[in-house]
Amino acid sequence: MLASRRILLIIGGGIAAYKSLDLIRRLKERGATVTPVLTRAGSEFVRPLSVSALAGQKVFQDLFDLTDEAEMGHIELSRSADLLVIAPGTADLMAKMAQGHADDLASTLLLATDTPVLVAPAMNVRMWDHPATQRNVKMLKEDGVRFVGPNEGDMACGEYGPGRMAEPLEIVAAIEAYLADGPLAGRRILVTSGPTHEPIDPVRYIANRSSGAQGTAIATALSALGAEVVFVTGPADVPPPEGVLVVPVQTAQEMYEAVKAALPVDAGVFAAAVADWRVASASDRKLKKTKDGLPDLSFAENPDILATVSKMKKNRPGLVVGFAAETDDVLNHATAKRKRKGCDWIVANDVSPATGIMGGSENDVTLITADGSEDWPRLSKTQVAKRLAQKIAEALA
Ligand code: CTP
Repeated sequence: MLASRRILLIIGGGIAAYKSLDLIRRLKERGATVTPVLTRAGSEFVRPLSVSALAGQKVFQDLFDLTDEAEMGHIELSRSADLLVIAPGTADLMAKMAQGHADDLASTLLLATDTPVLVAPAMNVRMWDHPATQRNVKMLKEDGVRFVGPNEGDMACGEYGPGRMAEPLEIVAAIEAYLADGPLAGRRILVTSGPTHEPIDPVRYIANRSSGAQGTAIATALSALGAEVVFVTGPADVPPPEGVLVVPVQTAQEMYEAVKAALPVDAGVFAAAVADWRVASASDRKLKKTKDGLPDLSFAENPDILATVSKMKKNRPGLVVGFAAETDDVLNHATAKRKRKGCDWIVANDVSPATGIMGGSENDVTLITADGSEDWPRLSKTQVAKRLAQKIAEALA
């Protein structure tokens, strides 16, 4: 709920601007006040009248508008909200913001504000991938600007890839997470979850029995405590949680890239059952039975995502939580794993088939930290998640 929350919405110039009309409606439904700012390019895509009618407020467009300045100066306008949202966030607006330009109303507001900023980028895939845009995104993240999306998919320009603006409800979820109350409000937490699928050929893959249930429950519990959650998930059996940013991946390598792109975060919870190996040269054609015998599959090692993130010099999350799924000598293996991986905590569990934990609804964990270990009773995965989220909130407080 966003009752009495004030959002300053900057609508940039892109075809996705039409989705911002729906965004205004969704925000208003939840009780937020939306003050719209329309850039000159934005007004080529949506009419000021539609924007102000939906927002129920006047739309601000010009820097040098004496009437506006008499009513509310641009400095005051830039600080009048709880959150500034840019949707669609064009490559140009992000470049201006990264460089501190102030040559129109939107860029001036962004330079003058002391309010947090959330950007929903939208642009052609090549523009998004361009090193200049990626440089700007990196700079803005370092400045504390938050992002929601862009998503991957078909684009209005006919190409496919990352660059599509996040859907209005995803933007609403990111706004709610940002403005949420709760001990994790204002914290951004990464959760990896589910198995990975490592292709053998276009129709076959190597996988494991992870259902994604524990990771999903953790993401839900963190979000309920007010965290903004980035949920990087392999192909899981359970649906992803609502109200979090979902980044679907298939392979360990894709998961690694998605995790790097999500940084910086305040904490990372690595609950995914990542495949340690992939088929070294997956075939791009279906392997056929031949008279020469069985196919000869050779393996290559996948990146160890948890260990790599734990050992990062720059951008290491303040708290890194790993999991240790073991089938024997759980405590010793997991204690050694905490050291080897370089993470802060390990949530260890016994996944030998007799326990019914892998794919089941309960979990029996031991939390291992630098101070020792803590045995938890056998609990539902939801209860384990709530307890872990609470611990994380205490550690980040
Ligand atoms: N993990 C990871 N990347 C990998 C492998 C594992 O991020 N390539 C993470 C998992 O998400 C989990 C932790 O490392 O948090 C431990 O995973 P586990 O499979 O138990 O450990 P392994 O590294 O595979 O160690 P081993 O095979 O020796 O048990």
